[in-house]
Amino acid sequence: MEQQTYAIEAEGLVKTFGETRAVDGADLTVPKGTVYGVLGPNGAGKTTTIRMLATLLQPSAGRARVFGHDIVEEADQVRARISMTGQFASVDKDLSGMENLVMLGRLMGYTKPEAKKRAKELLYAFGLGEAAKKQVKTYSGGMQRRLDIAASIVVTPDVLFLDEPTTGLDPRSRNQVWDIVRMLVDAGTTVLLTTQYLEEADQLADRIAVIDQGKVIAEGTSGELKSSVGSGKLHVRLFHPETRELAKQVLGRKLGTVVELASDPSALSTWVNDVNRAAHAIGELEREGIAVSDFSLGQPSLDEVFLTLTGRTAEAAETTENEETEAQG
Ligand SMILES: Nc1ncnc2c1ncn2[C@@H]1O[C@H](COP(=O)(O)OP(=O)(O)O)[C@@H](O)[C@H]1O
Ligand SMILES: [Mg+2]
Repeated sequence: MEQQTYAIEAEGLVKTFGETRAVDGADLTVPKGTVYGVLGPNGAGKTTTIRMLATLLQPSAGRARVFGHDIVEEADQVRARISMTGQFASVDKDLSGMENLVMLGRLMGYTKPEAKKRAKELLYAFGLGEAAKKQVKTYSGGMQRRLDIAASIVVTPDVLFLDEPTTGLDPRSRNQVWDIVRMLVDAGTTVLLTTQYLEEADQLADRIAVIDQGKVIAEGTSGELKSSVGSGKLHVRLFHPETRELAKQVLGRKLGTVVELASDPSALSTWVNDVNRAAHAIGELEREGIAVSDFSLGQPSLDEVFLTLTGRTAEAAETTENEETEAQG
């Protein structure tokens, strides 16, 4: 029947709210059967982008297709193939997990036995089997998030939009959500997820778009994004703070990079793009008689990728954003 290679294709999507250009000409191409990560700080335009793609908001300009269907002209066909957590399926906290899913299944046209079967299947798959008959308001945050996702896939969608599925979750619950996403993709669903965490995009996404102020400022696999900022930051801690000036000179000379002094008087850091060179530089410190108490080579964080791409930190972007929001409110 259909031979689409891409689940989603967006060109020049724009959404304005008064003076705010929430989405400012975003292009996205999401291959079928993959996980696509939209990574950006608070206020970057992530939610607005996926709300347009999910037909919940009309774009101000630009166009997009989901499985070849135009999100404006053919919104019904688009809706038939997508689901979005917390939007189409809202969970009633006074009901049990089981009751919620059975009710949704019935709404989607399943017979009662079919709805029960599907609800059970989902509850067990998502580790909610034991809690199936308990009221949702007794669930932990992680359990509620899992139930939310279960509710959005009572009928398996071709594309699932997940808006910051793990924000606010503890590491264990985050891992459970990640497993669910992997399970869905194995079963053939295309997932577009937004996140503020590079690690999450890294763990899950085949490709990532970094967005800032409504624009896609970088796109690629996580490896491509990271190599664009170097392999990471070398953090060094010294036994004797008085050796820090010398250490700064040695590292700068050896690596040819700018060495930053941390607020901790015995710590310093610099960017490196090669693990071997970092190891050599540490060796050089020892040879110069500078005692190193600890060092680490960190992966770039979102903040660091962001800083490299935009020249400012994600946190600063967020602050500007919050001020704007307050001014609007
Ligand atoms: N309904 C709205 N009315 C006015 N401004 C909005 C509305 N929704 C979002 N915005 C603004 O659009 C920008 C992007 O918001 P959003 O898409 O929610 O970002 P994100 O999901 O990345 O945090 C922000 O400046 C936000 O304040
Ligand atoms: Mg958002």
